[in-house]
Formats: sequence, structure tokens, C-alpha cells
Amino acid sequence: MVCLGNICRSPLAEGLLKSKIQSRNLNWTIDSAGTANYHTGSPPDLRMVETAQKHGVDLSFLKARQFNKNDFSDFDRIYVMDSENYRNVMKLSSNPSHQAKVFYMLDHLNPGENLAVPDPYYGHLNGFEAVFQLLNNATEQLINDLTNDK
Ligand code: 4NP
Repeated sequence: MVCLGNICRSPLAEGLLKSKIQSRNLNWTIDSAGTANYHTGSPPDLRMVETAQKHGVDLSFLKARQFNKNDFSDFDRIYVMDSENYRNVMKLSSNPSHQAKVFYMLDHLNPGENLAVPDPYYGHLNGFEAVFQLLNNATEQLINDLTNDK
């Protein structure tokens, strides 16, 4: 799960997926990262932590890290939140098999539309709730899509 700072959108996506796979007994390795290094080592933004907590999802144990080239070999699928993340991740890729692993998160809800999960960082508090609702739906659909593939 990849966003810009790894303190708002992608940690929430990580927390949601970890909680959903646990209740479905799926043994997936899930992590998140930011394309920027501004917040490396920091916990998620308190506004995001509190919004997730209201819905029973704990993000307080997470620490930001920067996306790096090893992630292409360490993971089967890489999900980005917006087109800027997509470009930055693609710049670090070195072959078509890496590039084929990169997907837009919201394409599980709106296939092929490459829609963005809006960056809530500089916006209003209700932006965090909107991001929660979007990512809650997208992560649910992601799990349905990938488990139906099998
Ligand atoms: P995120 O949000 O990419 O969802 O973690 C942001 C967090 C921090 C900044 C930008 C976006 N920043 O500019 O510091």
C-alpha cells in the first residue's frame, strides 16, 4: 500500500487489510510505504489514527518508511493511492514484471478509471472520514476480487 507520506492513506489501507484478512484467515503479508521520506520513522497522523480507532482499526503501532526498489521483489502486488504515487513508483521500477505489479487502489471499485484516494493531509477533518469510507470499501473489494480469482 503506497501513498506519498505513509502517514495517512497507506497506513490506513494497511491497517484495514490486516484486520480484514485476520477475520478471513488469509495468510497475506501486508505493508505500506511512502514515495517520500519526509515522515520516515513517524507514526501515522493522529487524525488518521483517531478516525480509524472510531471504527475499531488500530494504526498506532505503525511507523512510516519509504518505498524502495526491493519492494518490487518482496511483494506480489503494489497498490498506489493516486497518479503521483503511480509515477513515482514506476520511476523506481526496472522491468516490465515489476511494472505489472502496480495497481491503483480504487480500480477495485472503479475498474480502469485510475481514480485517486484524495490526500487528506492539508484538508478538513471530514476528509479523514471520507478516506476511511473509500479505503474500507476498496480493501473489502480487493479481498473479494483476489480470493475469487483462485
Ligand atoms: P499521505 O498524506 O500521503 O496519505 O500519507 C500526506 C502526508 C504528509 C504529506 C503529504 C501527504 N506531507 O507533505 O508532509
